[in-house]
Amino acid sequence: MNVPFFNYASRYAEDREKIKDIVYQVGISDNFILKERVVELEDAIRQYTGAKHVIAVANGTTALTILLQAMGVGPGVDVLTPAFSFISTASTIALLGGTPVFVDVDPLTGMMDPNDLERKVTPASKVVIPTHLFSVMADMESIHEIAQKHNLVVLEDSAVALGARQQGAIAGIMGNAGLYSFFPAKPLGGIGDGAVIVTNDDELGRISRMLRNHGQDGITRFYHHLLGYNNRMDETAASYLLHKLRRFDDLLNKRREIAGLYNEAFKHLAPMIQVVTDAHEERVYYTYVIQAERRDELKEFLESRGIETQIYYPTALPLQPAFAYLGHQAGDFPNAEAITGRSLALPLYAEMPSEHVQQVIIAVVDFYARVNVHA
Ligand SMILES: Cc1ncc(COP(=O)(O)O)c(C=O)c1O
Repeated sequence: MNVPFFNYASRYAEDREKIKDIVYQVGISDNFILKERVVELEDAIRQYTGAKHVIAVANGTTALTILLQAMGVGPGVDVLTPAFSFISTASTIALLGGTPVFVDVDPLTGMMDPNDLERKVTPASKVVIPTHLFSVMADMESIHEIAQKHNLVVLEDSAVALGARQQGAIAGIMGNAGLYSFFPAKPLGGIGDGAVIVTNDDELGRISRMLRNHGQDGITRFYHHLLGYNNRMDETAASYLLHKLRRFDDLLNKRREIAGLYNEAFKHLAPMIQVVTDAHEERVYYTYVIQAERRDELKEFLESRGIETQIYYPTALPLQPAFAYLGHQAGDFPNAEAITGRSLALPLYAEMPSEHVQQVIIAVVDFYARVNVHA
């Protein structure tokens, strides 16, 4: 039996008729972009998270761009960002003319290391981007302390963390601003790209709202206060997300249940496998990522049993060819680089059949049993 990493067919199966209806209703409405369904979604996310301002945009990457621009990032400005992350957390800084200053990560959690952050702050540093990845959150308390000491604005990259909490506080609004992505693979995955910016800061909210729509204020059309973007959410995207938000907590709970089974099965395999398991109830399991010894062999073994896995992320950001101009060398970010050689994402999605979960567990346990015998 093949075990896919994600299964979009099962994910969207129950919405088949709803999606057809949404596309038709929007198609006959004359209202395609940034209209009442988008406003309704913004209200719903406001209620779900408690954020004061919610601004719907076209994708998470340009949500980051808009926020960085609203925070004053441009030439001559440094932004502290994790060395282990998705490309957007660094490319957006560079594309605005700012300089990404990479910070190494904690060797176990893979999230920004506050000690290295303290070391890396430069006189030109203005913003720090703590990023939450997989199901793990950055250490926001320590990062806040450092941010306050150095007068840094905190842009929380919570693209994958809608619904997550840290000691009760809600991911996305723990810093000055955050975002949630609705790319189809994300826990609240839409039917295409989409995202929202969230902030409790009136000025960041006001500027972000203008930047997403060519710098207009939403009152006077064709009057441009700022040079902005065409980065707006479609009505079809908003309508589907509103529909799915109603069952979002159930979906998160199902993911959490599967992750709980993995956690239980793999705890005996430490230190060959390391997983961050604390605060399980507060986590959003976007993906289930382990740090594994003999990762590449494990991946091949799972493949031979029909189990699909992914590597998030195979290369540390400072060593990506796109950042060669910054002059970083192998060895500059030891923890991030070590994690790129150990991290492996196992299949996990809300609709995953329990036989598939068992199949993954049996195969992983079997692999390490064989390795031990032959060691
Ligand atoms: C941590 C993180 N930040 C930002 C993004 C960008 O979001 P989007 O794909 O909506 O542009 C992603 C997407 O995977 C992400 O994982």
